[in-house]
Amino acid sequence: MKQTRAAATTLDALLAAPLPPLARFRGRDFVTDQAYTRDELLDLVKLAIELKSLRSRKRLTPFLSGHHLGMLFDDPSTRTRVSFETGMTELGGHAVYLRPGELHLPGRESVADTARALSQFVDALMARTQTRAVLQELAEHATIPVINGEAGDYDHPIQSLSDAMTIIEAGGALEGATMAFLGNGDCMCDSVALTFSRLGMDVTVATPAEFPLPDAVRVAVEDNCRAWGTRLVVTDDAVDAVASADYVYTSLWWWEEPAEYVAEVRRRNRHLQVNRELWSRTKPGARFMHCLPAVRGDEVTDEIIDGPASMVWEMAANRKHLQKAVVLALIGIDELPNDPDLRPIGRALLS
Ligand code: CP
Repeated sequence: MKQTRAAATTLDALLAAPLPPLARFRGRDFVTDQAYTRDELLDLVKLAIELKSLRSRKRLTPFLSGHHLGMLFDDPSTRTRVSFETGMTELGGHAVYLRPGELHLPGRESVADTARALSQFVDALMARTQTRAVLQELAEHATIPVINGEAGDYDHPIQSLSDAMTIIEAGGALEGATMAFLGNGDCMCDSVALTFSRLGMDVTVATPAEFPLPDAVRVAVEDNCRAWGTRLVVTDDAVDAVASADYVYTSLWWWEEPAEYVAEVRRRNRHLQVNRELWSRTKPGARFMHCLPAVRGDEVTDEIIDGPASMVWEMAANRKHLQKAVVLALIGIDELPNDPDLRPIGRALLS
């Protein structure tokens, strides 16, 4: 059945609305944003915008004094690691960086026992894993909230939800807007399609035939679209994909594969490169998005990523604010802070 939401999701509307009750987030996992309603996701974005505003006035907002965040990374990271760690410090807490090989994981201790052990020491665990199965296993056995910092074979929802914050901050309404993703049907493609369809946007996905949007993701996105009366369009035609898009999103075409694979993917994906010629086919006012890191000259050219339509550095900056909101809402607080500046958010966290 088609749902409706009276309140628009413009920045003005979010700023005008009071902070919603947030205690209902306490103790939950953020393994997938599909476990959250659209209103809940927007409540987290609202909290992130309030925390960002507070941060512009106060460097330290110690809601989580004495709390710890574990950060388990199977894969390297610049943005995710540093934004979670600095965000946790700003919240008055502490983050612990954990690398397999330095833990007993993998091999000498199971994922389940690792989750049980870490639950004794930290208040929440953020994990970047190569597979969604490991992330789900951590969540199943941990007694603390587990947050998806990217499941390499499935999704990266903390990135795409912070991207929604960036769109809203830039003055864009989600309703009636179209998000187009160009590139491989990888975890970033999945997340863009899942998150923005959940938030009520039309979604277009342009992938090479060899690396399509996975069927399970397509089904979930179509369910979201049915709920809001929006559309998922799947194509391999980049010009068609960008023609009606308000936002054009791309991500890496390759990671650590051998040189022969890289040469093949460059040939295969050439038509999906976001460059000056493709950009000339976009609507006036269209914005460019990339989760980073980027390989300039592959999925995007310099004049686009560095050009006036690009939002990439705002996107990177917002990772910290959105993640602070998620960590704070999931860990929660027991007492109203003494600092009057922290009290409005504190009251929402307790209600
Ligand atoms: N976008 C993103 O997650 O970046 P990192 O790989 O640097 O964390």
